[in-house]
Amino acid sequence: MTLREVDWETFLDLNDTFMFRVSLNSTFFPHSQYVAQKAKDAVVDRFRDKYGVRPSVDTEDPTLRIHLHINQDRCTVSLDSSGGSLHHRGYRTETNAAPLNEVLAAGMVLLSGWNKRSPLVDPMCGSGTLLVEAAMIAANIPPNIHRQQFGFQRWNDYDKDLFETIHNGVVDRIAAEDVIIMGGDSNRNTVAKAKETVRNAKLDDVISIQHSDFADLVPPKDRHGMLIFNPPYGERMDEKGFNAPSDDEAINALYKMIGDTLKHNWSGWTAWILTSNLEAAKHIKLTPKPKIQLFNGALDCRFLRYEMYEGSRRRSELENAR
Ligand SMILES: C[S@@+](CC[C@H](N)C(=O)[O-])C[C@H]1O[C@@H](n2cnc3c(N)ncnc32)[C@H](O)[C@@H]1O
Repeated sequence: MTLREVDWETFLDLNDTFMFRVSLNSTFFPHSQYVAQKAKDAVVDRFRDKYGVRPSVDTEDPTLRIHLHINQDRCTVSLDSSGGSLHHRGYRTETNAAPLNEVLAAGMVLLSGWNKRSPLVDPMCGSGTLLVEAAMIAANIPPNIHRQQFGFQRWNDYDKDLFETIHNGVVDRIAAEDVIIMGGDSNRNTVAKAKETVRNAKLDDVISIQHSDFADLVPPKDRHGMLIFNPPYGERMDEKGFNAPSDDEAINALYKMIGDTLKHNWSGWTAWILTSNLEAAKHIKLTPKPKIQLFNGALDCRFLRYEMYEGSRRRSELENAR
């Protein structure tokens, strides 16, 4: 079947707009933009032949987003029901803190095995993404609750009542959790932005953020829990130019401080650290286990788990499982 033979009138009215997004892994085509152009022509020609007029292209906010996935000589056509990437949750304020992709942050929280009840701390919280995603996971808040519109809500067969039933069901299942979720960051400006992000996500009653260097951050009283953070790696902060060490010596000193602080101030806690800088991570001087490979954008990272035993190993394990 050719693209022109697809029954596009089922999905598009003449007043609608559309766009093609192409992912290409093929030696038959030069580049994705060329394919997108040809695909657009196929839809336009079909409408012109039948009606003499055609729907327009809109690459910003189209009625219908169409995906073409081409693997060598196989082409899969699909409609984008999300309407733009699902990691855009709609709560984040612009920041210069090299923020984690929201989906990666949520995945890190889930991978860490956090029990959703013990305290969770991100001591280098940047934009606050990990804190927000953790709070949403703890309270069973659907990740895209703040999204204004999904792609399928513009489809011809969109069932508004069904959507509202499902939406109300997931909202009803949100459960306010009495959990400590705390952030810190040494950059005052970043802290202000993170607080704004937390307010946008309507989680300021759950998440507290302090302007503090990790070395001075005071753990929540009488409770052990989990730290999850991604310190500067060296690479990204140079490009961005924000307030952080920029040479090997300084980055090694930062990771040494992390190790010393974990050992002295956070015994009984479990720490998960995401970094692409494994040389610097050696300066933490604790043995990570496991080391999970994750990609932060293009950066090949490891998600490292450190256990800071207090007293007996068994007691710490029992406390973290509580
Ligand atoms: C890679 S960013 C973290 C990004 C964050 N995970 C997010 O999603 O937005 C690293 C953060 O560590 C902070 N930082 C650097 N050194 C610090 C220190 N000694 N104590 C606390 N925060 C520090 C920086 O200000 C920066 O916001």
